[in-house]
Amino acid sequence: MVFVTQSIDPSALSRLRAAGLRVTVRHGEAPIGRGALLRGASRVLIPMPTDRIDGEVLDAGPVALVASHAVGTDHIDLDACRARGVAVTNTPGVLTDATADLAMALLLACTRGVLQGDALVRAGRFRGWHPLMLRGLELRGARLGIVGLGRIGRATAERARAFGMEVVHSSRSGGLPLDELLATSDVVSLHCPLTEATHHLLDAPALATMKPGAWLVNTARGPVVDEAALAEALQGHLAGAGLDVYEHEPRVHEGLVALPNVVLLPHLGSATHRARRLMAATVVDNVLAWHGGRPLPTPIL
Ligand code: GLV
Repeated sequence: MVFVTQSIDPSALSRLRAAGLRVTVRHGEAPIGRGALLRGASRVLIPMPTDRIDGEVLDAGPVALVASHAVGTDHIDLDACRARGVAVTNTPGVLTDATADLAMALLLACTRGVLQGDALVRAGRFRGWHPLMLRGLELRGARLGIVGLGRIGRATAERARAFGMEVVHSSRSGGLPLDELLATSDVVSLHCPLTEATHHLLDAPALATMKPGAWLVNTARGPVVDEAALAEALQGHLAGAGLDVYEHEPRVHEGLVALPNVVLLPHLGSATHRARRLMAATVVDNVLAWHGGRPLPTPIL
């Protein structure tokens, strides 16, 4: 009665089984395919952020609870869930620090030429210290523009301030207008959810307003950025980018792959041992509460 679309922390699965629930886990290196998802859908569904959960999947179960192993809910058709009375939960909070850490890793990697330096050494091209080699951005005094000031945006701001950065933000509830943030920030870091309003928020005109020589970091969702336009801008006025998410995951725009000034990670935002353990634990807390008729700890619907 519980279907998990990918291998998750085993101790979380043990808790489900100890509670007497019948659990089926689909193991695979890649995300589950559509056919297997439709075949596997059952009363309780534990999907990953890569699994599109729409009316067809909900009806295939039929599903009563979607306990998503993710904080973002853009992969779930919430209207379809609402219409069917399906409960939905996510995993907020537990991956905040992990994701903010990764945003800083990308920020540092792209502004300091970490990958170019590594490639240079491995290629045997390190001839010794040079005063003009791979100079990057000094973070103290540089301006970081945070787009979306939720939990992860705030945690990234806290880290950036510790590096001496001046932090500004733009969000639904206030801060700078987006175009002013884009025009004045040395680094822009995206932390907004993917919604209809944020789809291609950074399109060609928005990217064009970014400061010449600026960097873009995206640990939010790929479709917030028009990838083709970003690839163009990175051959023009932008200095570089650090990306953890893509518009059509797992496909990455070939224009980006070809560029040396982009750091590309495979959607690792929450990939720490702690965060993934606590994400699975949060999923199970929700399933067990639902099973026991108790209030859901982290409900979306
Ligand atoms: C991952 O991207 C998540 O939303 O948890």
